[in-house]
Amino acid sequence: MAIRNVIKRDDEILYKQCRPVEVFDKRLHTILDDMKETLYHANGVGLAAPQVGILRCYCVIDTGEGYFELINPKIISSSGSQRAVEGCLSCPNDWGYVTRPNVVKFKAQDRNGKWYEKEVQELFARAVCHELDHLKGKLFVEKIEERVQVEQK
Ligand code: NI
Repeated sequence: MAIRNVIKRDDEILYKQCRPVEVFDKRLHTILDDMKETLYHANGVGLAAPQVGILRCYCVIDTGEGYFELINPKIISSSGSQRAVEGCLSCPNDWGYVTRPNVVKFKAQDRNGKWYEKEVQELFARAVCHELDHLKGKLFVEKIEERVQVEQK
């Protein structure tokens, strides 16, 4: 595994629509392994493929409820609402309140192409929404309702 460079918000690749994953091969697995290592190294809760320069629909998430790989993810339903401070590994100086659904049910494929469904809430639901936005070329900064200053360690 290797730590990959996380692309920052001034790079146009973060604003492009991703294409679906069609081949579930060794190359995909290697990138996923690298994304996992990169996520933990950065103390993040989610990382999407375009953030490491790959315009394909997948992301990795670990909000403390286990590590998940979401390939070709789609939100099936969402409900409720939560408002909390959000950040992004591609936008290290931007923090702010964003309103998201509180409960999200999604389906996705695992690294071998098998579909699964999961219902998540709170931070996990927030992370799913945030990462799926990345796959559509959208950054959370356009959704910030109120900026906050967070001291960088
Ligand atoms: Ni992000």
